[in-house]
Amino acid sequence: MSEPITVAVNTSSRSYDVVVGENLLDGLGERVRQAVRATTAFVVTDSNVGPLYLDRALSSLATAGLSTASVTLPAGEQHKTLASYGTILDAMAHAGLTRDDVVVALGGGVIGDMAGFAAATYMRGIEVVQVPTTLLSMVDSSVGGKTAIDVTAGKNLVGAFLQPSLVVADISCLSTLTPYVFADGMGEVVKHAVLADPDLFVTLGARPLTQEADPSYLAEVVADNVRIKRDVVATDERERGLRQTLNLGHTIGHAIEAASGYTQGHGHCVAAGLCCVARATEALGWSEQGIASRIERCCAAQGLPTDSDLPHEDILHQAAFDKKRHGDSVNLVVPVRLGLSEVRRTSLDEFAYIVDLGCGTAAQE
Ligand SMILES: NC(=O)c1ccc[n+]([C@@H]2O[C@H](COP(=O)([O-])OP(=O)(O)OC[C@H]3O[C@@H](n4cnc5c(N)ncnc54)[C@H](O)[C@@H]3O)[C@@H](O)[C@H]2O)c1
Repeated sequence: MSEPITVAVNTSSRSYDVVVGENLLDGLGERVRQAVRATTAFVVTDSNVGPLYLDRALSSLATAGLSTASVTLPAGEQHKTLASYGTILDAMAHAGLTRDDVVVALGGGVIGDMAGFAAATYMRGIEVVQVPTTLLSMVDSSVGGKTAIDVTAGKNLVGAFLQPSLVVADISCLSTLTPYVFADGMGEVVKHAVLADPDLFVTLGARPLTQEADPSYLAEVVADNVRIKRDVVATDERERGLRQTLNLGHTIGHAIEAASGYTQGHGHCVAAGLCCVARATEALGWSEQGIASRIERCCAAQGLPTDSDLPHEDILHQAAFDKKRHGDSVNLVVPVRLGLSEVRRTSLDEFAYIVDLGCGTAAQE
């Protein structure tokens, strides 16, 4: 078994370690005890992850001398609600949690976002440790401090920034994911590679990442992604500039996701959005020639879609409601070349033209 990889994250509000490796759950308690001064660890998990990993997490925390309590929520984005948030807060209060205690988010991005938001607001803020169990949450949502819940008007409309005190990414947990949920995380991995790591992009094309991959390769790719996100977040913690480039593929991707009625996974839609935007911006001369087909090949190699056949008017309708819209324009992230993207303010009319140019136009093999 290879040694865990530690990535240090420094932001203006907090410095913390992201530890990536195999079988880390059993040593979780010791790492939490070293990272935070808490008496009680309150674990938030969901109905899929709990039966698989909660006992191991709790017993490790108890062995390290922490008192423990937990709450298990029903799994799924449809439960990322005010009601679930209320359930977490009530359970924290019943457990007698104080400002000196810690919340441990054990699960995918849904649990990480909700537990993080509960920690950010309980008694005006207590510490949170993220223990991501999906690929997406390891490479993306557990790092950077964004927390959120959904409301009926839209996804992630209510939230707060709270950097975690520690992130423990146990890649052994990835073995129990469904292949679809694993591939969903790959959408963000390809996006990160396009944004900031041409070498990783080439590696992924030649050696697609699967759940069965050699654990040290899996851990390296996760750690590479954490570093990419870390570097962006450290420069722009509150998404005023550079952090917006992390939305590469997301303007069209989110619109596809919403237009599909959320039947298609987020990462799958991001991959499709990434390919659509690359085809359009290459055709406009805003991106280097050949980039679109390179991105398409990399997405396809990971089993991700490269296009969407949804009606353009549905995609545009959803884009017009995107929370990142500014008046009658959207900030579109353009992949200028591998390793360089830039944000371009685009009118909704221009955006409609881009959707026409890029969506539903993938070359057939
Ligand atoms: N905060 C951020 O910066 C950020 C960034 C990207 C996405 N997000 C959010 O992340 C969420 C999506 O995260 P996700 O894709 O991890 O979804 P998720 O948390 O719903 O997990 C997907 C499914 O996998 C199950 N699961 C999780 N870990 C498992 C494991 N190890 N074994 C078996 N099953 C497991 C879950 O119960 C769920 O059914 C969205 O709500 C999105 O808004 C947040």
